[in-house]
Amino acid sequence: MEKTLVILKPSCLMRGLVGEVTRRFEQKGLRLAGMKMCQLTDEQLSEHYGQHKGKPFFQQLKDAMMVTPVIVCCYEGVDAVEVVRNLAGVTNGRKAALGTIRGDYCMSFQENIVHTSDSIENAKIELERFFNPGELFDYKMPLLDYLYAADEL
Ligand code: CMP
Repeated sequence: MEKTLVILKPSCLMRGLVGEVTRRFEQKGLRLAGMKMCQLTDEQLSEHYGQHKGKPFFQQLKDAMMVTPVIVCCYEGVDAVEVVRNLAGVTNGRKAALGTIRGDYCMSFQENIVHTSDSIENAKIELERFFNPGELFDYKMPLLDYLYAADEL
């Protein structure tokens, strides 16, 4: 099964949305494989957001991600990368569809509540960046047979 990274950003913590956001992933049927609070550093963020280096919002984005600790989460499921991105909605909260996390809870490009991995390849890289070996856990969800048909697993 696929694993993907979600970062609950400072905007999520400061606005008291941690429970609401994690509830959505949980109710969808994703398995929580790992979760921890951490204070990100400028160095970690320069690597994580490397594709945005040189853009006008780069330093501002990194600074905003260090205002409070964040919560990094690993969710697992069939097609988890795509499922989680669909639950989050498009990057700009003002354009995100109602019913998505960003569409329902934010008005901003930058202060957009969550980061989610954008591809299977990047999910692997990002999970290795934020989780140490032993911090991701394997356990069987008791209701797995009711979340998926046998041929989907
Ligand atoms: P995220 O999914 O964490 O990936 C990159 C982040 O950069 C994105 O969410 C936004 O928070 C931020 N971002 C992307 N584009 C812009 C922009 N045009 N202005 C400000 N922030 C942006």
